[in-house]
Amino acid sequence: EKDGHDWFMRKEIFEQPRAVADSLLGRRTAEGHLQLDEMRLSDQELRDVDKIIIIACGTSFYAGLVAKYAIEHWCRIPVEVELASEFRYRDPILDYSTLVVAISQSGETADTLQAIRHARAQKSKVLAICNTNGSTIPRESDAVIYTHAGPEIGVASTKGFLTQLVACYLLALYLAQVKGTRFGDEISQVVRQLEAMPSHIESVLASADDVYALAREHVGTRSVLFLGRHAGYPVALEGALKLKELAYLHAEGFAAGELKHGPIALVEQGLPVLCVVPPAGRDQLRDKMVSGIQEVRARGARTICLVEEGDDAITPYADVVLRLPKVPVLLQPLVAVVPLQLFACELATVMGHDVDQPRNLAKSVTVE
Ligand code: M6R
Repeated sequence: EKDGHDWFMRKEIFEQPRAVADSLLGRRTAEGHLQLDEMRLSDQELRDVDKIIIIACGTSFYAGLVAKYAIEHWCRIPVEVELASEFRYRDPILDYSTLVVAISQSGETADTLQAIRHARAQKSKVLAICNTNGSTIPRESDAVIYTHAGPEIGVASTKGFLTQLVACYLLALYLAQVKGTRFGDEISQVVRQLEAMPSHIESVLASADDVYALAREHVGTRSVLFLGRHAGYPVALEGALKLKELAYLHAEGFAAGELKHGPIALVEQGLPVLCVVPPAGRDQLRDKMVSGIQEVRARGARTICLVEEGDDAITPYADVVLRLPKVPVLLQPLVAVVPLQLFACELATVMGHDVDQPRNLAKSVTVE
């Protein structure tokens, strides 16, 4: 049942190319238009949307953070991303022109469900992005985009996260198509780039042994930092969450630009800092990241850098380089998170932890 793997989580990590491909299946017409079959909102309802609020918890929240970059870029609609558990307690401003997007792998998360109920009571439409057919969250929503990860057994979300990202990209592109924004021409190009992602993810998985060897060097480490910028920032947060959940380590993700506003004080000799470097095409972003890496290294950090193939600017400042395939910045989370999942899975395994059932955690959190 684990297909020869020691853990469901590891099996699910390796299923990601297939899961991403399945989530893209049947979304493009012969003419190159996007179609979202289960989308029960009309084009007019979508054209009326002038604000989007994404609500979710945990890893699904990080998918929402990536979605903000994609939707704002392609659709020019303002997006807020909020933890479901905080949402209704701040008396959010909602009406019929606000689309609330609820992201949940299980479809049963109580915090997310309560937030949906609150939004619908205020006349907002709710679109669910969910992996579980017939679960409560899609049933209580106005519309749904199903992800096609298949059952996710490991408590730590992996393929659930990647397929949520795909659904978020599809939603962003679909909204752009319906609204006819100036990025309309890009849509079919991005869909093709998305369709190439399963093979890029395969190539990252092909280097799993390098990541495992690196993970094994970190037994005994007490703390790990993760840095990212732009769409790489949520990846840093997700990498840290995986390590907390599975290896029970202190791990924190930061936006690299925030370092000098406080977190750099944490850096001491030998501290591992995992850095998600933006693709070289985005030079301003990439160069700022390089200087962040230099700063932590000058203070003794051991820098482990996820960098795209062919980008050597970072090499003088990287203690370890892990290569990523060349992909557009907005899609980079689909490949960049994979080594971080492998790292956490392997480190927890060698530390002797139960990777599929980490202590104190449940797969779906049905209490608020
Ligand atoms: O089923 P959901 O997507 O609503 O679950 C949300 C979080 O509980 C979940 O992502 C949690 O953070 C995972 N254990 C992360 O690996």
